[in-house]
Amino acid sequence: MHKFNNDWLFLREKIDKVSRNKRIIEKINKYFQDYKTLSIADLGCGTGSNYRYLYPKLKKRQSWDMIDISFESIKEFKKKTNNKNKIIDINYKKFDLIKNIKSFKFEKYDIITGSAYLDIMPKNWYLGFKKQNLNTKVVYFSINYDGFFKFHPKHKDDQYVLNLFNKDQESDKGIGQKAVGKNCSQIINKLFSKSHKTFVFDSSWDVSKNKKFQNMFLDFCENVLEKNKISLDRWLDFRRENIKKNKSKLFLRNKDFLALKL
Ligand SMILES: C[S@@+](CC[C@H](N)C(=O)[O-])C[C@H]1O[C@@H](n2cnc3c(N)ncnc32)[C@H](O)[C@@H]1O
Repeated sequence: MHKFNNDWLFLREKIDKVSRNKRIIEKINKYFQDYKTLSIADLGCGTGSNYRYLYPKLKKRQSWDMIDISFESIKEFKKKTNNKNKIIDINYKKFDLIKNIKSFKFEKYDIITGSAYLDIMPKNWYLGFKKQNLNTKVVYFSINYDGFFKFHPKHKDDQYVLNLFNKDQESDKGIGQKAVGKNCSQIINKLFSKSHKTFVFDSSWDVSKNKKFQNMFLDFCENVLEKNKISLDRWLDFRRENIKKNKSKLFLRNKDFLALKL
């Protein structure tokens, strides 16, 4: 079982917060303008960053069910509820959303959501998910990796590392099956576009000013290289040197997906 590194999840949270597409919140609030309360499931909730982003922005009172296969992350869940009036209750459920997708009661919820979750799901999960959510009012997945990152300044090995990274994103991320990786937004959009009005918006990271984040991302790349038994110190040294000298920039493309039931 893959354990997502909680330090990484917390470091990413601030970046995700500024990168998420803001038009989605307007659309969700408009959709539910006549509702009094909302019932929400957060799939693969991890330490709760999706909840912390969304609950202050949704205008209605909310009940949340936080779902994850791993208690390692759920036990680090930090509520940070400044506006307690908005939260009716929060429940935590340890549940395998791949293995047991058919028994999950999606119909109880107004919103099914998740962040940094879609790209790690296997391809066959999508069809099952779609079947279970034909009538779900709102489906919202944020920060879906889209297959592209670039560092500045350029290096001749950049494309090679990007290709390896993308291939790795499509490997088993510790869930027992290959992940779908960079095509996740495209796949889900195609599945939902017949029954819902769908949107795919940009939510890319521009982390040019964040040295800690860039170094952590480089560690990921190094890990991918090691897994492939490839030694590419000239690229890693070049990147680390540029970060140290404040000369490095990093951009990584993500998408946000929204489906509104017609
Ligand atoms: C990259 S983390 C994202 C966590 C959080 N949503 C965020 O944005 O920080 C992916 C999460 O999906 C969970 N996950 C992976 N496979 C799962 C499964 N089969 N059922 C439920 N959760 C799963 C992991 O435990 C992890 O917490």
